[in-house]
Amino acid sequence: MRISLTKFQCNIVLANPDLACLSEFLLKNKSLYTNCVVISDENVFHRFGNEIKPLIEGQGLSVHPIVLKPGEPSKTLDSVIRCWQEMQTQGSDRSSLVIGFGGGMVTDVAGFASACYMRGVDTVYIPTTLLGMVDAAIGGKSGVNLCKIKNLVGTLKHPRLVVVAPHYLKTLPPRELSSGLAEIIKAGMIWDGELFEFLEKHMEDILAKNPEKLKTIITKACKIKTDIVRADEKEHNVRAILNYGHTFAHAIEALTNYELYTHGEAVSIGMSCAAKVSRILGYVDDEFVKRQDNLCASAQLPVHLPPSICPDDMLRLMLHDKKTVKGKIKLIIPRRIGKVDQLHDVDPAVLCDALKLKGQD
Ligand SMILES: NC(=O)c1ccc[n+]([C@@H]2O[C@H](COP(=O)([O-])OP(=O)(O)OC[C@H]3O[C@@H](n4cnc5c(N)ncnc54)[C@H](O)[C@@H]3O)[C@@H](O)[C@H]2O)c1
Repeated sequence: MRISLTKFQCNIVLANPDLACLSEFLLKNKSLYTNCVVISDENVFHRFGNEIKPLIEGQGLSVHPIVLKPGEPSKTLDSVIRCWQEMQTQGSDRSSLVIGFGGGMVTDVAGFASACYMRGVDTVYIPTTLLGMVDAAIGGKSGVNLCKIKNLVGTLKHPRLVVVAPHYLKTLPPRELSSGLAEIIKAGMIWDGELFEFLEKHMEDILAKNPEKLKTIITKACKIKTDIVRADEKEHNVRAILNYGHTFAHAIEALTNYELYTHGEAVSIGMSCAAKVSRILGYVDDEFVKRQDNLCASAQLPVHLPPSICPDDMLRLMLHDKKTVKGKIKLIIPRRIGKVDQLHDVDPAVLCDALKLKGQD
């Protein structure tokens, strides 16, 4: 797989464990960069830092690591400020290259830090989670959480290269694999019914990390995301469908302090809520909601809201989501597998009913 987002000068490449595409990129752009800042997290850098350092140094660039604590609680302005301060102390300038090496938390922080440092330096992402490979590293969005609001501040700037190297998934914990599967199920539901059916058929192999099956779903999901971003980078229309399940998910993550669920788990519950809204409005039937829930459950993902979350609190937070304008909640709802629509002013009473609706077993 080699996908070019030519307009944004960004290539997304399926890489072998030798990361040859990274070496080629560094060789080709040798004259542009003076040093390299690798932003990562402890889990990733302690495991794989020694593998990528020689690749970069082999191209004549010094490596300055900035290693964050793992997990969503690190997706903060404090982390970004730390990156800027360390970059400044280490002597980074406008010709420094930032490499975001880790999951979506890392690429979001690295993307934001690099987009603002001296008004923007180039970035390469090497995503190491499934979610990072198929979603977070693609599309140019980055940002951090603030005031209990997910991604409240951020930027839109594409990396020059995304190195998608599935061998990193070997060490990914099962729960994080499932988290990435939520975004791939989402991709199938919003755009590609065949992908959805492939997931239904091969979930056991996928959970066992069968390399061929993983490559198939990663390639399909990357293509879906890039097709959508190419069509509508700034989210004026079609890109909004990528938010399927996310308005609920962001509220769930915030209400559980970004600790109880992974992002993908919250998205899975959010997609179930969105399907229930569609069911209440009469666009889909119970069978449809059950089919999506079953696929998520087969990927070891939760689909029900935890009892600790009160629907009224959810609604309050959803009213503060970035996508909500003048108190009007926008929502992506499914019409059939592979097709969703955007509603522009959803009646909060319908949302409340959907949040209270129990799943069908
Ligand atoms: N910018 C975007 O367009 C976009 C899109 C989707 C999601 N996101 C964001 O991505 C974030 C979630 O990303 P995530 O799910 O990758 O979480 P994450 O980055 O927090 O990583 C999850 C865990 O996996 C560990 N890990 C990473 N790679 C590993 C590996 N190869 N082996 C073992 N452990 C590894 C990490 O250290 C961490 O503990 C959320 O903040 C979400 O908002 C952004």
